[in-house]
Amino acid sequence: MRHAVCLIKGDGIGPEVAEATQQVIDATGVAIDWQDLPAGAAAVESHGDVLPEMTKAAIRETKVALKGPVTTPIGQGFRSVNVQLRQELNLYAAIRPVRSMDGIKTRYDNVDIVVFRENTEGLYSGIENTVTEGVVTSLKVCTRKASERIARAAFRYCKERKRKKLTVFHKANIMKLTDGLFLESVRKVHAKMAPEIEYQELIIDNGCMQLVRDPGQFDVLLLENLYGDVISDLCAGLVGGLGVVPGANIGDEAAVFEAVHGSAPDIAGQNVANPLALIMSGVMMLRHLGEKKAALRIRDAYNAVLQAGNPAEITRDLGGQASTGAFTEALIRQLG
Ligand code: NAI
Ligand code: MG
Repeated sequence: MRHAVCLIKGDGIGPEVAEATQQVIDATGVAIDWQDLPAGAAAVESHGDVLPEMTKAAIRETKVALKGPVTTPIGQGFRSVNVQLRQELNLYAAIRPVRSMDGIKTRYDNVDIVVFRENTEGLYSGIENTVTEGVVTSLKVCTRKASERIARAAFRYCKERKRKKLTVFHKANIMKLTDGLFLESVRKVHAKMAPEIEYQELIIDNGCMQLVRDPGQFDVLLLENLYGDVISDLCAGLVGGLGVVPGANIGDEAAVFEAVHGSAPDIAGQNVANPLALIMSGVMMLRHLGEKKAALRIRDAYNAVLQAGNPAEITRDLGGQASTGAFTEALIRQLG
């Protein structure tokens, strides 16, 4: 079966890691018709728009996209493409599996956490306002509808993947209404849908401390938008960094697969970025497309390359010396 997939290469290291991922997926023999689409800072130059209508229309059509990171200007300039894309396509669940991997030495060897992040509201609603010179506000939006929707997605995932425990990080002691409604919604869904799953609530300060002290105690984490964004990178740090954590943005109409990391301007264009996080996102995409065999082949291949531990085949972020291209070639050789 052929699959039509939108490919957004993005900015910074985006094109380097996206092309590597495309090569690895193609090497499995899965028949994908890639449709190259513009978004991000590069799209402003080529199409005069950070998120051209054609890109959104194409993803609505194919329902699946693989996306490299895009650059978002800090403190000024255009609104985040990611936030726009997630809101407009209603990609309400960000799912980020974070696992210790053989061959990557870190402080812990027992991390197996899946971060579920609400992807459409919270403080990322983008409703900011200048009250007067020197006084600004940012509105945090929490709705019962979106909170229950992400909770259902997370508990459904627990049931399907035989996960045993779900923990919510929150700050409902301070943000009594917004985080309070989030908690109330999750509790309700838990009681109705998955009472057999162990359920825990932690104030996020304590949650962060527990995460770095003993990450093995956590299974699935469920968080509102901002907390989920921050905690995703924290969790990445537990297992070897941003080069090894994939992600999926899932809605009822479409799914966009992308790594947790950004466009890494500090190393862009040097052929040194680790493409593995996007390749792993590609593995999630293949499973979503029903191409389980190809997904497992790629997974086995990168595990074998990491376990072999040849510095010439491992990228710099993981302590090796390989370029993006050399790692990609090693992976494709391993696929056979
Ligand atoms: P970043 O994730 O791009 O980089 C953080 C650090 O991790 C840098 O030192 C970078 O070199 C390193 N790093 C990231 N990915 C790597 C990889 N694959 N291999 C090796 N090293 C890697 O975060 P930063 O610097 O805060 O943001 C840069 C830009 O990316 C910003 O414009 C930000 O808005 C954007 N961004 C985009 C995202 C997306 O499109 N999904 C997600 C996060 C940030
Ligand atoms: Mg982030």
